Amino acid sequence: MAFNPLKEKGIPMDQQPVNWATLNVTPYDKNSVHPYTRTRIILMNGIEVEAAIFKHQFARHTDDMELKRQLAMSRRIEQQQQKMINWLPPGDESPLSVTIGYEQVAVDLTAWLARTEPDPYVKEALDFALIEDFDHLYRYANLLQMTEGKEAEEITREYTEIMPGRPTIAEHRHPYDSIRKHYDSKKAQMITKLHVMTIISAEQQTMNYYMNIGPLSPNPMVRALYQEIAMIEEQHVSHYESLADPKASWFEMALLHEYNECYMYYSCMTSETDNRIRDIWQLCLEQEITHLQHAGEMLKKYEKRDPAQIIPEDFPELTIFQSNKDYIRRILANQINLTADGTEFKSVDSLPSDHRYHQYQSLVNGDGFVPSRDVIEENVRQTGNEYRLETEGPHPVEWLRTSEEVTI
Ligand SMILES: [Fe+2]
Ligand SMILES: [Fe+2]
Ligand SMILES: [Fe+2]
Ligand SMILES: [Fe+2]
Repeated sequence: MAFNPLKEKGIPMDQQPVNWATLNVTPYDKNSVHPYTRTRIILMNGIEVEAAIFKHQFARHTDDMELKRQLAMSRRIEQQQQKMINWLPPGDESPLSVTIGYEQVAVDLTAWLARTEPDPYVKEALDFALIEDFDHLYRYANLLQMTEGKEAEEITREYTEIMPGRPTIAEHRHPYDSIRKHYDSKKAQMITKLHVMTIISAEQQTMNYYMNIGPLSPNPMVRALYQEIAMIEEQHVSHYESLADPKASWFEMALLHEYNECYMYYSCMTSETDNRIRDIWQLCLEQEITHLQHAGEMLKKYEKRDPAQIIPEDFPELTIFQSNKDYIRRILANQINLTADGTEFKSVDSLPSDHRYHQYQSLVNGDGFVPSRDVIEENVRQTGNEYRLETEGPHPVEWLRTSEEVTI
């Protein structure tokens, strides 16, 4: 059944604010929550953070009082949605456990987007960062075992393998090499725009999360690893945000944000296994339908453009969390040696020895202290082994099969 939120019935804007009791949701149970319910919560929190911050930026770039008021109204609801969603994780999950959930989002969301992305360059960009976040999951999993004596698979279960990806040490690139070519909003398919908006929101939330929780631990290894990986998330945000067409107008971007929220809540609703949480996705979807229609009215009023010319009759293929093990193994096997050179992805071996990649590498990895490498060594030293979860056989890349190789 086709679903076009421009034509659906939402909740009138003046009825959208909810009371404190509704906002103050009961958290999920960390022992029984489905890993993909956790990842949906993490992702939708990121989508709402982006929605709210985007509207703050929009309001700071206009002196139209009526427009500012309209933005303030729906922004208040985005903030309520963010609170409802981000208060679902219980306080008894440690920040590091939640971090494992963040990287599971990055792995299984990115893999799904890459698998369903029609634009070959955007797919390349997704595959490229996929195996970097995959490596973060492995580094944090070792930190978790070392500091909390806990196995990351208690959080991710059997859905996501945990083993080295493109080693984090090799991910540090010159800032110039984090900028990509952008799609053309007049020519790109809607699914590409939604994918890019979704992955920007997810990576930005991860970046913000590590920026804030990184220094909360007194443990030097924890602090150092968050710092290093947070800098990669900065690269990932730069990488993904540059894919979006910067020439789209504020009003068109506002419409796209609301449409993506409708699309993502609808995706979550159809795949959610927890009935209580599904009701939250449905409530948010009904609120977003009205946001979208209001954004459409603004586009008509200020730009004389018809939103029906932009919003398709039905959602493109939905974005679903599911296991992507074989796909990820294929990307690992074929792309482990890639780095970026300007807007293109190339094998590290093909770069000249004086390339800025090598210069940047020697600056940041210079004095021999590299937390993402040292954490593996340290875990082996403290617990006697390295943590990994390889459910589909040995690592597809031979030199990543033992911790000795990984820590060279
Ligand atoms: Fe929202
Ligand atoms: Fe990551
Ligand atoms: Fe990332
Ligand atoms: Fe919204």
